[in-house]
Amino acid sequence: MDGEIATITLARPDKRNAQTFATWSALARIGESLPEQVRVVVVKGEGPSFSAGIDLRMFTPEGVPGQGSFSSAARSDGADFEQRIRQAQAGFLWLRRPEIVSIAAVQGHAIGAGFQLALACDLRIVADDVSFCMKEPALGLVPDLTGTKPLVELVGLAKAIDICLTARTVHADEAMRIGLAERVVAGGDLDQAVREKVTQLLSTNRDAAVATKRLLQGARARTLEEQSVAEGIEQAARIKALFG
Ligand code: ACO
Repeated sequence: MDGEIATITLARPDKRNAQTFATWSALARIGESLPEQVRVVVVKGEGPSFSAGIDLRMFTPEGVPGQGSFSSAARSDGADFEQRIRQAQAGFLWLRRPEIVSIAAVQGHAIGAGFQLALACDLRIVADDVSFCMKEPALGLVPDLTGTKPLVELVGLAKAIDICLTARTVHADEAMRIGLAERVVAGGDLDQAVREKVTQLLSTNRDAAVATKRLLQGARARTLEEQSVAEGIEQAARIKALFG
């Protein structure tokens, strides 16, 4: 925590920040207890890779100690497992709250759950060695950590089908071109680039930023007429707060 900025660092670099159910419940807890003053949340990974995705031990019969495995889950009631997935997704969903702007600082590999964690954030600033890969379909799975909707919204349906159903790698130049990344910088400049973006984001009025994000998030689901009405409602509240 640093005033209005919270930084979450995946800190298992020796295992390329592989994620487990414990990672996702820790993320959810951070979301639940995020201090009200926070305006920007930065999500980053220590070491050469942002995150190499789910801990592959989950696919072994032994699983991750204390967290089970997919073979034990397969033997359990389907509804139980769906509930567990919902809990895991809670670790990702809060990053879209209107009250904050979330930034993923992504270097090296962002595979599977790692790609989806980057997609869970509002903005992605990436190093030039970044490689995104939605590996799930290659492993017989679907991306289920909230990544499919933001991916389609960012790159369009055709490109999302291409990226997911081939499980191919998207490098920095393509990520920039198709709208996955806001900015590409040399690896050594990633922290500085994120700091610059944070400064820009904190330079606007807090309440106006929250209301504007709420408007932008709702825009796709509304008609132009409905969106215009929503703009008017938000603006009336702003004028009242500023001049009332
Ligand atoms: N789960 C558990 N351990 C991992 C994972 C992972 N997803 N990824 C890497 N590691 C471990 C390796 O086993 C290795 O451990 P060790 O030093 O004890 O042998 C260490 O991290 C370093 O990995 P390397 O493979 O040596 O690193 P390198 O930089 O050469 O390669 C890469 C990185 C490409 C990410 C490679 O590790 C890899 O392909 N990992 C698996 C990616 C994957 O399939 N993820 C699942 C996606 S699907 C999903 O997320 C739902």
